[in-house]
Amino acid sequence: PVIHVITPTYTRPVQKAELTRLANTLLHVPNLHWIVVEDAPRKTSLVSRLLRGTGLNHTHLSVETPRAYRLHREPRGTRVPRGTAQRNLGLRWLRESLGHGANHRGVVYFADDDNTYSLELFEEMRSTQKVSVWPVAFVGGLRYESPKINTMGKVYGWRTVFDPHRPFAIDMAGFAINLQLILNKPQAYFKLKGVKGGYQESSLLRELVTLGDLEPKANNCTKVLVWHTRTERPVLVNEGKRGFTDFNVEI
Ligand code: UGA
Ligand code: MN
Repeated sequence: PVIHVITPTYTRPVQKAELTRLANTLLHVPNLHWIVVEDAPRKTSLVSRLLRGTGLNHTHLSVETPRAYRLHREPRGTRVPRGTAQRNLGLRWLRESLGHGANHRGVVYFADDDNTYSLELFEEMRSTQKVSVWPVAFVGGLRYESPKINTMGKVYGWRTVFDPHRPFAIDMAGFAINLQLILNKPQAYFKLKGVKGGYQESSLLRELVTLGDLEPKANNCTKVLVWHTRTERPVLVNEGKRGFTDFNVEI
């Protein structure tokens, strides 16, 4: 099966570094299709060139997160989560491009541009029948969060401190979805509006599966194969001083 990796990304000083590092990981994964969705009104040449240069099988899309909505209209306690409009466009692209005809064997994974992914993770997710799940390090104020697995090898709850009663208390990096399930449930998207923090993942997964359907990977969810790393914002205070700014050089 093909692994379709959907990555939201946005313009900032570290973007090219993040995408370079992720590309270097994905280049080791056989049978992969990288769907990169920019949070921008149009595709940028920086990302276009980078994608072409990797030689990876890729699709390049863009959609801007509605800014006005984010700033003014959200009730307290909710916000427009990062990358949501972009992941939804990736889902729509899969349905519109692959939804008709042939029986497509594949898996869909949402990979943020700043996390750290082991190669083993991709081989674990490749056999996903419906939705597979595994632990994620550095989320929710813990070394790692994980699904809880019973003696029958089934998910029965969530090892999290933050709101373990969410329907699916799991980070975006902690699950993959069978492509056929995405194509068979064409109405299933991430909710963009009125979603409380930590409920974004549930907003999609509840449309697709129930707890009992989940398939634990990574040795029954005992191994950490993905890390929710975050990149420090570089200090650029001397840019613009004494003629140091040179926007002709891409970073
Ligand atoms: C956490 C979760 O791990 C994300 O999956 C979730 O989308 C996010 O919270 C959220 O909902 O706010 P975090 O590290 O805080 O992740 O978020 P980022 O890594 O900053 O953003 C997640 C993805 O969205 C990244 O791939 C990033 O490039 C992209 N993004 C971020 C945009 O496309 N637009 C933005 O304005 C910001
Ligand atoms: Mn992140």
